[in-house]
Amino acid sequence: MTRKATYQFAGKTILITGGAGDIGKATAHRFAANGASLALLDLNEPKMTDVAEELKAYNVPVGTFRCDVTSADDVAKAFTSAIEQLGRIDYIFNNAGYQGIFAKTDEYPEDDFEKVIEINVIGVFHILKAAAQHLRDIGGGAIVNMASYAGVVGPPNMLAYGASKFAVIGMTQTAAKDLAPYNIRVNALSPALIGPGFMWTRQTQLQAAVGSQYFDADPKVVEQQMIDSVAMRRLGSLEEVANGVAFLMSEEASYITGFNLEVTGGL
Ligand SMILES: NC(=O)c1ccc[n+]([C@@H]2O[C@H](COP(=O)([O-])OP(=O)(O)OC[C@H]3O[C@@H](n4cnc5c(N)ncnc54)[C@H](O)[C@@H]3O)[C@@H](O)[C@H]2O)c1
Repeated sequence: MTRKATYQFAGKTILITGGAGDIGKATAHRFAANGASLALLDLNEPKMTDVAEELKAYNVPVGTFRCDVTSADDVAKAFTSAIEQLGRIDYIFNNAGYQGIFAKTDEYPEDDFEKVIEINVIGVFHILKAAAQHLRDIGGGAIVNMASYAGVVGPPNMLAYGASKFAVIGMTQTAAKDLAPYNIRVNALSPALIGPGFMWTRQTQLQAAVGSQYFDADPKVVEQQMIDSVAMRRLGSLEEVANGVAFLMSEEASYITGFNLEVTGGL
C-alpha cells in the first residue's frame, strides 16, 4: 500500500498574523517549503517585506498586508485584500501577540495590562471572527490560535500575558463548538520556552530585572534556571513550533478540534 505524503499544503493558502515575527516567519518558511501560498499580516511593514523577500526562494505566491489586529476595520480590509490577491484562504494562523512588561501583580501598570488584552484577546477575536466568516463562506477550513504555556499555568510576573493566553484557550474551545457545523476546526498551540528569538531574550532579561523570588538577577542564570525546569533540558526551536502548527492544520488532524497542543518539552 502506498501512503500519501503528509502535511502537504500545495494549492492551499495560509494567512499568518504576526508574519514578520520569529514564529510567524518560521511558520511561513515551513508552509512555503510545503507548497502553500501565503498571506502575511503584521504591523511591521519593513520586517514583513524582508520575510516576503526570503520566501521568494520557494517560488510560491506571497502577499503582505499591513494590519493592526486591534482594529476590526483593518482586519476586514486585510482579509478582503488577501482574498482578492490570493483567491481564497484555507487556513488561518492567529499568531500576532505581545508579551507585556514583567512586574509583580501589586505593581502591574494598568496601561500595559490594557495593551496586552487589546492585542492578545481583542486582536485574536477580530482575526478569529473574520476567519470564521470567510471559512464558513467557502465550506470549511482550519484555524490555529497562538496561546502559550502561560495560558495553562500562570507564570510569575506576567499577569496580563497569562490572562490573555488563558482567554485564547477559552475562545478556542468555544469557537471549536460554534464552528464545527461549518466544517471549521479551531485549535490552540501553547509553546513554552522557545528560542533563540526575541521573546526568549526579552523574557530572561526582564524576569531577572523584576527581582522576584523565582529567578536570579543575572539573565544568564535565569536562562539556565528556566532550561532546568524543562524535562528535555533544552529550548524548543522555532521550527518545532511551526511543526505543531502544520500538524494542527493538516488532514492528519481532521478529527481534532478545541484542542490545545502544548509544545513544551515536558515543562
Ligand atoms: N517566542 C516564544 O517563546 C513564545 C512562546 C509562547 C507563545 N508565543 C506567542 O507566539 C506569538 C508570536 O511570538 P513571537 O515569538 O514570534 O514574537 P515576535 O515579537 O517575534 O512576533 C510578534 C509579531 O506580532 C506583531 N504584532 C504585534 N502587535 C500587533 C498588532 N497589533 N497587529 C499586528 N501585528 C502585531 C509584531 O509586529 C511581531 O511581528 C505571540 O502570540 C506570542 O505570545 C511565543
